Amino acid sequence: MKFLKKLDTNIWISDGDAVSWYGMPYTTRMTIVKLRDERLWVHSPGKIIDEMMTEVKSLGQVSYLVSPNKIHHLFINDWINIFPNAISYSSPGLRDKRKDISFDKDLSDSPEKEWEEEIDQIIFKGSSVMEEVVFFHKKSETLILTDLIENFHPDHFSGYKKILAKITGIVSPNGKTPIDWRASFIFGKKEARKSLLKILSWKPKKIVISHGECIYSNATEFILKSFKWVGLTKG
Ligand SMILES: [Fe+2]
Repeated sequence: MKFLKKLDTNIWISDGDAVSWYGMPYTTRMTIVKLRDERLWVHSPGKIIDEMMTEVKSLGQVSYLVSPNKIHHLFINDWINIFPNAISYSSPGLRDKRKDISFDKDLSDSPEKEWEEEIDQIIFKGSSVMEEVVFFHKKSETLILTDLIENFHPDHFSGYKKILAKITGIVSPNGKTPIDWRASFIFGKKEARKSLLKILSWKPKKIVISHGECIYSNATEFILKSFKWVGLTKG
């Protein structure tokens, strides 16, 4: 397959072109999990490309369209139009932000019954500006994050953008939650710690992220390093 890359049993990623985020080139990534009943769970649906869609359809039936946080919504409407029978899920705050998208359901702090046996989920809490829904694909032991870790290759940015990316904290191998979002957790560290402990309890082996390099080894160590700002040792 040209567009979809198989990561492990029943899980694929597809890397998309960069979209501009405050002038920064943000490459995008979509993740697809095939559930036991051949239904496809699509996380952060990417830009529609005909050839890619042929590959997607060859895997199974697109059934669940998942927007993991309120800034990941660019292409979901296109998918809803192509797959009118798929169930679409809003992340916290997105339904109000994108009133033009008619989401079927809202993601919550526990896995939806449609996928609870195969994918766990929580809302990463503690921020005053945005809550991301975090997923764990049990079979492949993969943590699926969106923006909570951004981890761009050091050569991805150039010039002043490179300096900005470093200050923001999103350069590999030290990628983490961007500094502005981190700042919004100032009164919510305790809740963030609770969310982080739940993530660690899953014991992920791999981490798929939406922007930059995924983490394929020593995932727990990476999480502990990346989320140092949460202050886990403070209890
Ligand atoms: Fe993002």
